[in-house]
Amino acid sequence: MIPPKQVQEILDATRIEEVIEEFVSLRRRGVNLIGLCPFHGERTPSFNVNPARNIFKCFGCGKAGDAITFLKEHENLTYPEALRWLARKYNIEIQEVERTPEQLAEMQLADSLYIVNEFALQHFQQQLFDTDEGKSVALAYFRKRGLREETIRAFGLGYAPDERDLLLRKAKSTGHNPELLKKVGLCSQDGGRDFFRARVMFAIHNLSGKVAAFAGRTMSSEKTIPKYINSPETEIYVKNKILYGAFQAKKAIRQQDECLLVEGYMDVISLYQACIENVVASSGTSLTEGQLQLIRLNTQNLKILYDGDPAGIKAALRGLDLALEQDLNVRICLLPDGHDPDSYVQEFGGEQFKKFTTENAKDFIFFKTDLLLGETKGDPIKRAGLVKDIVSSIARIPDPIKRSVYLKECSALLEVSEQVLHAEANKLIGQTIKKREEKAARQPSAASDLPPAPPPVYGEDPFFPPDPGAYFPPSEAGDLPPDWPQDSQPSRPAERKGGAEYQERDIIRLLILFGSHILPNEQISVGEYLLADIEESLGDFDNPLYGRVAAECHAMLMDGKTFDQHYFIQHESAEVANLAIDLLAEPWEFSPNWEAMWNYPLQNQPMPERNFPLDMKQALDRFKLQKVQKMCGINLQRVQNASKEGDHDAMIRFMKIQQKLNETRNEIALRAGTVVFGK
Ligand code: UTP
Ligand code: MN
Repeated sequence: MIPPKQVQEILDATRIEEVIEEFVSLRRRGVNLIGLCPFHGERTPSFNVNPARNIFKCFGCGKAGDAITFLKEHENLTYPEALRWLARKYNIEIQEVERTPEQLAEMQLADSLYIVNEFALQHFQQQLFDTDEGKSVALAYFRKRGLREETIRAFGLGYAPDERDLLLRKAKSTGHNPELLKKVGLCSQDGGRDFFRARVMFAIHNLSGKVAAFAGRTMSSEKTIPKYINSPETEIYVKNKILYGAFQAKKAIRQQDECLLVEGYMDVISLYQACIENVVASSGTSLTEGQLQLIRLNTQNLKILYDGDPAGIKAALRGLDLALEQDLNVRICLLPDGHDPDSYVQEFGGEQFKKFTTENAKDFIFFKTDLLLGETKGDPIKRAGLVKDIVSSIARIPDPIKRSVYLKECSALLEVSEQVLHAEANKLIGQTIKKREEKAARQPSAASDLPPAPPPVYGEDPFFPPDPGAYFPPSEAGDLPPDWPQDSQPSRPAERKGGAEYQERDIIRLLILFGSHILPNEQISVGEYLLADIEESLGDFDNPLYGRVAAECHAMLMDGKTFDQHYFIQHESAEVANLAIDLLAEPWEFSPNWEAMWNYPLQNQPMPERNFPLDMKQALDRFKLQKVQKMCGINLQRVQNASKEGDHDAMIRFMKIQQKLNETRNEIALRAGTVVFGK
């Protein structure tokens, strides 16, 4: 277990934008950072990261949380794993306290597949570097192929000797469960043989650098033996979502704003060694949508390097319409006959490789047009088919400006009028839209089709502050992206839920956002101040969820414990965690059309982080005002009842109370600057 003090140290060091940048390319948009959401496919960014609050939220799919949540969801980590991940990133050495057997078992289960792969990796590496056979056979093979030791280590290369069950035996003798080896495909289903034998080994990493699978290459040139064999799909190796080399390449891809795509493992490794690091491989299969999304998260520019025959290339081109749909700019480069990227760079070096690929890369649409044109010479029917084929590719491009540039260029290449091409493209786009609508009609997604809920109405209730800015945390609306998703739903309760909803929510907002902040002149925290001030109303919350949070905070303070944002975001009750996220995300929640639609001016105030003492006092006043007002109503009823029953003494007593309540109410109202109607 990680001691609480260290947990705090890790959390303090964590910058959410630095964590998310490891997986998603972000750019600044005002005080926030935005990017494409890694949790759902999208082309316009609705994934927001707020560094000031250390949280993220996607307005497209609703995923939200802090760095821990992100790692848990994105990397499939458990809470302690996420903490360890962060500790590694920020170079914090964890002095773990002894784990209980239960904790051990739990961890083992969650991590077991990676652990067994890591064990196998070490085994293969040891076989490669530390055995005579490894050195003379496998290491010599890699050397012959031009790889240096640092490259061999960086890519987790290894060796599996020609022995029936060497890995299995070693696993058993070191306490690894053979069932797990079976599960990740490292041994046969009967548990009798190793899967990889007499092969040099390639570790396949996931995006965060854990070993998800292996590939093994035979060193024999015997045609009857499969050249490569690969691990089967498992929970941790979902083939269509993993790109070989992505872990090593992701930084360079972002820095250079381009991704090179090659076919083979060796291509990636040799290029990397020649200082061309922004390379990934599709591993010989056609690109899947998931892989394209992964690329698109890091860059919009994809350069594909092909070797091989025209037939193979033609087949590969078909899959690339998917890339156009993702709004990727695709370029194609053919290598000289007989070369693949690996052999080319090994022979001519990195500089020459860069030169060649820069000079010879062609835009995908033009490449395809050229390639197909060559085949249709003098055959009008084939030519008509070609026009349709090209236009159908162009019609996939979401950006209308790009589309029209392509249509213009292709009109010249194909010798077909631009108008005809436009008409054909529009027909196809219309069909796609119709299909999409039909699909949407079959599976209505309730939330996204509804118009945005109106914001609450202010000022109609005399006891409700007429100034919305007083309730809402200062807005950062000026920073909202112009392409803010139209269907982003405000998570604020859409309708009024009884008079106290907003006042109570406000108290909870302050507890969650600023509970542990120390008030400048009071030497106590916001949480302590708030809860001491409303202690007698704690059982009086109208909204049970808010009441529960307040009571829990109170109990913790009584116990001498503290709480902060993180505590609530990771709360064991999902209801509480969601509430915390909603409250934390609130200032982002205005969509630009909101203001226009509801004629609801957005306020500009100091950042909430600076405004919290005043914010707190105002919230308290509004909360108390509401409670006093409620008491006034109840007490007035008492007066009337006593009067009806002719109980004169009771009537006098209740009227005195009423007077007191009115005084208190007016006093608070005066302070809060709120006009109170009625007596
Ligand atoms: P290639 O046949 O082009 O191999 O297959 P390569 O990558 O150039 O490897 P070397 O240079 O001969 O060592 C391209 C990719 O297709 C997959 C592998 O991912 C390979 O890297 N492949 C190929 C297999 O999975 N199995 C095979 O039998 C062959
Ligand atoms: Mn090759």
